[in-house]
Amino acid sequence: MNLLNQIMERAKANPQRIVLPEGTEIRTLKAADIILKNDVARLILIGNDKEIKTLAKENQLEHIAKAEIIDPEKDAIIDQYSKLLYEIRKSKGMTMEEAGQLVKNPLYLACLMIKNGDADGELAGARNTTGDVLRPAFQIVKTKPGISVVSGAFLMFTPTPQYGENGLLIFADCAVNPNPSAKELADIALSSAETARAIAGFEPKIAMLSFSTKGSAKHEMVDKVVEATRLAKESDPSLQIEGELQADAALVPEVGRSKAPGSSIAGHANVLVFPDLQSGNIGYKMVERFSGTQAVGPILQGMAAPINDLSRGCSVDDIVNMIAITANQAIKK
Ligand code: ACO
Repeated sequence: MNLLNQIMERAKANPQRIVLPEGTEIRTLKAADIILKNDVARLILIGNDKEIKTLAKENQLEHIAKAEIIDPEKDAIIDQYSKLLYEIRKSKGMTMEEAGQLVKNPLYLACLMIKNGDADGELAGARNTTGDVLRPAFQIVKTKPGISVVSGAFLMFTPTPQYGENGLLIFADCAVNPNPSAKELADIALSSAETARAIAGFEPKIAMLSFSTKGSAKHEMVDKVVEATRLAKESDPSLQIEGELQADAALVPEVGRSKAPGSSIAGHANVLVFPDLQSGNIGYKMVERFSGTQAVGPILQGMAAPINDLSRGCSVDDIVNMIAITANQAIKK
């Protein structure tokens, strides 16, 4: 069974409550119908009740009837959530009036439902930008204890079985932190290790990528990667991690042997941690387009509860997969 099927089966075995704030977005509704038809998760749709039901009827999405619908303009429960939002954000200067307005924003409402224990995870982004999905998540749900930043990883199903775990690799951070510090980069490595174990199902061998391998170049950008590697090892001495490595030294055994002799990771990495968002975001998109790789994600890691962000160009299948991944993260939590 391939990994995405295993993820689907794990979700079915322990159905989680996933909230979809873009309840009137048609690809989201089509994906929700597939999820509900196959009992992969319990779904909460946020949006205008009438509009959701009309769209479902027009598109013959009969399983949408099984979803719970929360209408932010009507539901009495909103009051309770605005108080919660006020309590969380008052130290940042939010007034009760502002909380009362913001709670009607489905992206805020979804995070408040998670915070209040009324949902186990969230998926959004088919209609909203990454920043708009992430900001309420950062403000309300926040990071896991001990992790300083949320980051975004991709499962890269490459057609090259000689690399990673039979062609499967994790790339991070490709979605969130434009210019992480050494400490933040170390946390991205630690979170990626957890994603490797919990979602991809393999033991991580992490390469901290750079344009230098083991001192071949001198630059402050390289120093950051070296320091991040040291900090990650200090946090978890059992972690299999090597840095700094160039991508070829990380992936290709002969190059790894010649550029980083004695390293058990060089040439065998299955998790690639990029030094910043420019390289990570460009890197995953280039691999995806040039090689016909299936890139699944971004899977947000390091958040106190699972919240995931879609690309606005996503397909119905992408949304189905990401709902199942969000459910898997909720089960692990
Ligand atoms: N992890 C956890 N919390 C964070 C993070 C993070 N990575 N970044 C910011 N925060 C928190 C801050 O601490 C702050 O919390 P507080 O209000 O409680 O003090 C809050 O979030 C807002 O912080 P700002 O610095 O004001 O963050 P801002 O809203 O400006 O930006 C954002 C955050 C939107 C995620 C920004 O980093 C960003 O735009 N990143 C790039 C996203 C992107 O465009 N990715 C590429 C596309 S995705 C793709 O192609 C797959």
